[in-house]
Amino acid sequence: AATRLKAFSCALATVAVMAASPALAKTFKIAVGDGAGGTQHELGKAFISALEAKTGKKHTATLFLNGQLGSEEDTVNNAATGTLDMSILAINNVTPFSPTVGTLTLPYVILSLEDAEKLTQGPIGQELVENTVRDAGVRIIGWAYSGFRVLTNSKRPVESVADLKGLVVRVPKNEIMIETYKAWGINPTPMAWSETFSALQQKVVDGQDNPYITVHSMKFDEVQKYITNIRYIFSIEPLIISEAVFQDLSEQDRKAVLEAGKEATKHSAQFLRAKENAIKAELTARGMKISEPAGGEAEFISLATKTVWPKFYDSVGGAAKVNAVLKALGR
Ligand code: MLT
Repeated sequence: AATRLKAFSCALATVAVMAASPALAKTFKIAVGDGAGGTQHELGKAFISALEAKTGKKHTATLFLNGQLGSEEDTVNNAATGTLDMSILAINNVTPFSPTVGTLTLPYVILSLEDAEKLTQGPIGQELVENTVRDAGVRIIGWAYSGFRVLTNSKRPVESVADLKGLVVRVPKNEIMIETYKAWGINPTPMAWSETFSALQQKVVDGQDNPYITVHSMKFDEVQKYITNIRYIFSIEPLIISEAVFQDLSEQDRKAVLEAGKEATKHSAQFLRAKENAIKAELTARGMKISEPAGGEAEFISLATKTVWPKFYDSVGGAAKVNAVLKALGR
């Protein structure tokens, strides 16, 4: 009987610990796809200081930069199963797990930082949060705004769609982006972000696209020479939390996490406004050459919107959904 009583009280103690566990102090692990100094890093730092301030330093987090915790796609899977707490990654690498997020990666939908803020912080963003919880088991709690994805390459200045011919361009494993390059007449090379620097360095690929601040934080100027100012995707990069980890928190802590995410999001917009031009100038000073797309980018725009949008209406939730997004942007 004594043994049984002991087992029972052990079980009771376990239940008590489990019940108390939401209140335990946590150090969340946050995977970050990019290097130091980028918009993802900045969002992460802002999130951590807001979280510490809101929880009296009960909760904090550690950032693991440069894809140390796996490819961006892996981090979504790991957060979904609860083996990773959080990740900051490009939206295009979430789209394969939750296709309606593709409304934000359709070419030439987001045409400014203000458009990006309006969509992510309004009802459309909220719907995408819910869809991502449902489809991918992760919750978007904040956004980094990273600027337009400009095209870089090591071979020659590119101004027109015709100039792309013969270039091997790496793209994320994102169908919308793959189809966009196809509409521009080339077959791009889909590849994980974590493999991209060495592929550029070893000349497995000639070019890629990413925002100025990302090009800078990843030191791509060491392996790329030419930039084309295309504006087909304005890069937004969510901070996601494992839904299982989120639901395991107390109500008060969930509130703190959500508010910290909102504050970090505001900070991210300020960071981009303050830093993008200086970083562009620095890349030029380091020898990169910037070209403007010919004819105000008209050919890039028309090929991408006419052929790519219709292919993805179904996966993003219908043509009506895309029209609702455009309407929300006043177009
Ligand atoms: C990508 O190109 O895969 C992403 O934009 C990389 C990133 O997270 O910055």
